[in-house]
Amino acid sequence: MEVRVSAEGIESYSGEAVAVGVSEKTALAGAAAYADQLLGGLIGRLIGSGEIRGKSGETTIIHTQGKLRAARIAVVGFGKAEENDCLALRRAMGAAARRLRDRGCRRVGSTLHQMVPGGPRGEQAVRATVEGAYLGLYRGEECKTEASVPGELDELCLLGIQQEHLRFGEAAAQAGRMVGEATNYARRLANLPANELTPSRLAEEARATAERVGLACQVMGPEELKQLGMGALLAVARGSDEPACLIVLRHQGDRSGPVVALLGKGLTFDSGGLSLKSPDQMHLMKRDMAGAAAVLAAMRAIAELKAELNVIGLIPASENLPSGHASRPGDVVKAFNGKTIEIISTDAEGRLLLADALAYAKHLGATHLVDVATLTGACVVALGHVASGVMGNDNHLAEAVLDAADQAGERMWRLPLFPEYRRQLDSQIADIKNVGGRPAGAITGGWFLREFVDETSWAHIDIAGTAWSEKDEPHQVEGATGAGTRTLVALVERMAGGMA
Ligand code: BES
Ligand code: MN
Ligand code: ZN
Repeated sequence: MEVRVSAEGIESYSGEAVAVGVSEKTALAGAAAYADQLLGGLIGRLIGSGEIRGKSGETTIIHTQGKLRAARIAVVGFGKAEENDCLALRRAMGAAARRLRDRGCRRVGSTLHQMVPGGPRGEQAVRATVEGAYLGLYRGEECKTEASVPGELDELCLLGIQQEHLRFGEAAAQAGRMVGEATNYARRLANLPANELTPSRLAEEARATAERVGLACQVMGPEELKQLGMGALLAVARGSDEPACLIVLRHQGDRSGPVVALLGKGLTFDSGGLSLKSPDQMHLMKRDMAGAAAVLAAMRAIAELKAELNVIGLIPASENLPSGHASRPGDVVKAFNGKTIEIISTDAEGRLLLADALAYAKHLGATHLVDVATLTGACVVALGHVASGVMGNDNHLAEAVLDAADQAGERMWRLPLFPEYRRQLDSQIADIKNVGGRPAGAITGGWFLREFVDETSWAHIDIAGTAWSEKDEPHQVEGATGAGTRTLVALVERMAGGMA
């Protein structure tokens, strides 16, 4: 799809359709009011009759009967005006793009960036609109031999951008394209089944992406991991015939300054190991590498955006399977930083992998650490499928993550790492155990990771509840959501701009 910006108005755009936005219980404004005028008051009448309500993602397609050059207008709902934010804009554009594509449109003009009451403005709005289109257009039909509805959009054109803003608008639109495509890349990887996306295949994927966008890429296999002393990562991998690896990606955007490490949990399949999961939801654990996907996708966008910051992406990748070689509950292993861990449950494997990767990132010189992981079912209990959990040892960085999430249209919420919770991880025979019992499970997961970062500034994002969606929504189909991708990119951009 080509993305461009134009000073053109809705009346003269030459594609098949234009999109305008309306908010719930709010008078028509901006492009929607103008479209209403061109259509002789038709949109107003549809609102009057209750046919258009402006609910988030509601899309009404009106035939323009020659009153505009485009044959159709899509009237899209932003939802309640007071709830409008970056997310509402993405949802609206996602819904419109998908509906119009499925109706056979190929070139679509949009005015949704122009004015969402209460929403983002200027470049942020342009970018969110373009991202929204990509989010809505993703199909999630990786393994189908034929698309359920064929055809793709060829063009998205953001209309009515003032002549003097065209240059910035164009840059923002291309940034939106890069981030939108990156999010869909993360979704694609996470949706791939575990028989296709093994740790080795994930490493190949990282190599190919790195090559394409100009990232340095290094992959360490079992032998090197053993030499480095990554006993926690290797303990997870033991039960599987697929070799584990640690993928390291580097973006050199600055000569000096901070070095940010982004880390993603890369379990290409989590059966629980000998602490076997129950079979009913086990198939979903092919997506236990959604954090890794978010990191790889974010690194790709960070390179494409040429962010002026040094960023390292680290992806510890493995399967977690039971076998005669598997780690046993009760085993004690030694992590990269020398700490010993008593493995109470082999199903608390993500924290083991990340323990080694976090300590190693510090060793590589990272000054800031941010990990993204489908870490705990407890986080789903705490925050549902609505928000990701954020934890950390540095208020400043945690706030920066929350601000970045807000800008990226991703819901995140902070959970505390009060010192009292740490006791739940006390082990009789080792330095720490990998399970803290049922109470505050998301937090004890976070606390476990904290033990491997020492005083380095660190934030942890638990995406267990947000990494995939069980139902279709305006801006995403059922399946992987790409959660974390856009927040990581926004965070790096903020840090590059000195905002965090
Ligand atoms: N990958 C799971 C967590 C998960 C659960 C992600 C549901 C997404 C949806 C993780 O490896 C896990 O199994 N965690 C255990 C930890 C427990 C043994 C302390 C859990 O949450 O039950
Ligand atoms: Mn597990
Ligand atoms: Zn897991």
